Amino acid sequence: MANFLLPVLIFFISLQRCYTANPDYFQLSSFLRQQAEITTKNGISRMEWFTDKGPMMWVIEKYGINCSLTIFFEETATPEAHVLRKAMAGRPVRIFLLSSEILLQEKPWTQSTCDFNIFLLSDGQKLIQHSSINHIQAAPYKPHYYPPPLWNFKAYFLIFLLTRNDANQMALNIATRYNFKKTENLLVFIPRGNHVLAVTHSLYTDGTKMTLLDSWRNGRFSNSNHLFPSKLKDLKGSVLKVATFPHPPSVVFDLNDEGHIRRRLGVDMEVIHSLSRVKNFTVQFVEISSIEKWGFLHPNGTWDGLMGAITQETSDIGVCNVFNEHFRWNFVDFSYPYNFMPGCFIAPSPKPVLNWQSPMLPFTRNTWISIGAVYITAALILYVVAKLSVRQEDSRFQNIVYNYFYIVDSLTVGSVRLVPSYDPTRIYMGFIWIFCFIVSSAYSANLVAFLSVNKLAPPIDTLEQLATSGLRFGAHSFWLTQFSGSSDPYVDHIFNTLETDYEIFDLFEEVEKNKFALVENKQYLEVNRDARFTYGDKATIRIVGECLIPYSISLILPKNSPLTRNLGYNLLSTFESGMMIKWQADVVKFFRKLYEEKRLLRGHDDVPIGPRALSLAQLQGVFYIFLCGLIWSFLTFILEFIFKPFKK
Ligand SMILES: *[C@@H]1O[C@H](CO)[C@@H](O)[C@H](O)[C@H]1NC(C)=O
Ligand SMILES: *[C@@H]1O[C@H](CO)[C@@H](O)[C@H](O)[C@H]1NC(C)=O
Ligand SMILES: *[C@@H]1O[C@H](CO)[C@@H](O)[C@H](O)[C@H]1NC(C)=O
Repeated sequence: MANFLLPVLIFFISLQRCYTANPDYFQLSSFLRQQAEITTKNGISRMEWFTDKGPMMWVIEKYGINCSLTIFFEETATPEAHVLRKAMAGRPVRIFLLSSEILLQEKPWTQSTCDFNIFLLSDGQKLIQHSSINHIQAAPYKPHYYPPPLWNFKAYFLIFLLTRNDANQMALNIATRYNFKKTENLLVFIPRGNHVLAVTHSLYTDGTKMTLLDSWRNGRFSNSNHLFPSKLKDLKGSVLKVATFPHPPSVVFDLNDEGHIRRRLGVDMEVIHSLSRVKNFTVQFVEISSIEKWGFLHPNGTWDGLMGAITQETSDIGVCNVFNEHFRWNFVDFSYPYNFMPGCFIAPSPKPVLNWQSPMLPFTRNTWISIGAVYITAALILYVVAKLSVRQEDSRFQNIVYNYFYIVDSLTVGSVRLVPSYDPTRIYMGFIWIFCFIVSSAYSANLVAFLSVNKLAPPIDTLEQLATSGLRFGAHSFWLTQFSGSSDPYVDHIFNTLETDYEIFDLFEEVEKNKFALVENKQYLEVNRDARFTYGDKATIRIVGECLIPYSISLILPKNSPLTRNLGYNLLSTFESGMMIKWQADVVKFFRKLYEEKRLLRGHDDVPIGPRALSLAQLQGVFYIFLCGLIWSFLTFILEFIFKPFKK
């Protein structure tokens, strides 16, 4: 007896293995072919549903003519699997006996451009269990591949429920599992008497009921409805959670007196509002702490901030000027970009230099040297002309020291007390006076120009100047990962000395005080500069001319969110319409108004209306001249005092 049983046992065990190892074994097994002939109690040939005349093959031929097919079957559905496999003869089909182990391998989940995953279930527990797991979070220390292994969010799932009791409940149970909630294409077949119902689920609703699409009777679908309707074109008022925090001009909160949010403005908020109108969803905002902002990756592998809300999937969409960037893409999905913005630095505006040289500035050095040369020779020549005149000039002209004073007197265009009496000296002095008049008019006109302009220190315009300016560098921690290790030594220096523990919004005050430079996206810097630090026509902080690379700005969504693909075209057309520019102008206007009082308060004592009085900064050179004169006379006095006795 035992001799007879053993081969049979071995046959069954090897059969079990072969289902997964060698799918085509089916065609060889006459044992299974006999099983396939089994009919149901009701006398209806259930097997017909799995032949090439059944609803399964009808759907595959209509929607997936060239798709790759994978069949998963539970053991009790072996005959059905066999019949279905036969109906698919001539196509590339993979077939797996459903088990937890097989689902946890990457083999059944390889992804092509179009996949049909067919499940024949009577119990469904293994699929329910597998589809409940967030496979990305289940393996936080593994690199996050895209597409991730162990599920195929873009596949078409066809599930045939062979159970006779509670099929509706089971369909609902499957459809509301974690991975199915993010899978758009799901079609569940439920046998009901001699026909089969085709039902599907909805995304982003509470999922309390399935939608009946069509029913199969007498060898055809009775209503010829589309069996894979797009579920995200009209979200029918479903609630999507949108995480955000204020960051002008992307997101600006209009607060009422109690500090509650009255309105949300800004480019990014307008994007969300228009998406919600187009897609017909209701927005529920999730507030992210302004301290955490975009978030930081903790050593234990979890994020906080906006990234945390999306990686932990407590929100459906994250928005607030998020740069589309590779490191974050390991954890979240990015939508199509809807804006582009470079990262830039903001540094203090150049300060006026204390300019004691102002009396010297109207002429260049060579002009001064020429004038000096003329002065020295003119007095000498006057002396010579006066000395050599046939008719003797006033004796004072024959004193060389007097002549030097006389020329200085002419240069200041003072009134002349002594005039030459005879032609040679008169002609000579006439030309000297014309020369002096022109030089002094030119000087005084240009002096006014120089005194009324503030001379400024050279502005910081390049990253090299910035790196060597002695300023400290503040930034959000996002920037730490961006440029450290840059081949540019100045950029490398800046990003190695970034300080990330400060609140950026408050750090602007430190920039104004000449202590810090900040790096952030350009429009954020611009709006802060214009709204908070521009007094009259003068800004006290300034964007460094040389910027970093531009980034695309996108929405972030949980990995594999079906919304990612679905929102793309709406975002693109919004961008192409140019609405971004208008929205940005609107929010800048609003934001400037918020800080109007502060600007006026500060602006008042800095920029008086009407002509400006000259300050000491501009005029101090004149006082230096006076001081020099005092010191000079004092020294002369001392010298005279000392040497007087000897003179006698
Ligand atoms: C399917 O593949 C066949 C042969 O490769 C091709 O001729 C046909 O156009 C394809 N059909 C579709 C709908 O892609
Ligand atoms: C949006 O959804 C609501 C709720 O289901 C529905 O009544 C309304 O007709 C939809 N609007 C559009 C424009 O589709
Ligand atoms: C990871 O670390 C952060 C900060 O140290 C902590 O707040 C968070 O709870 C940790 N998460 C887990 C899952 O341990």
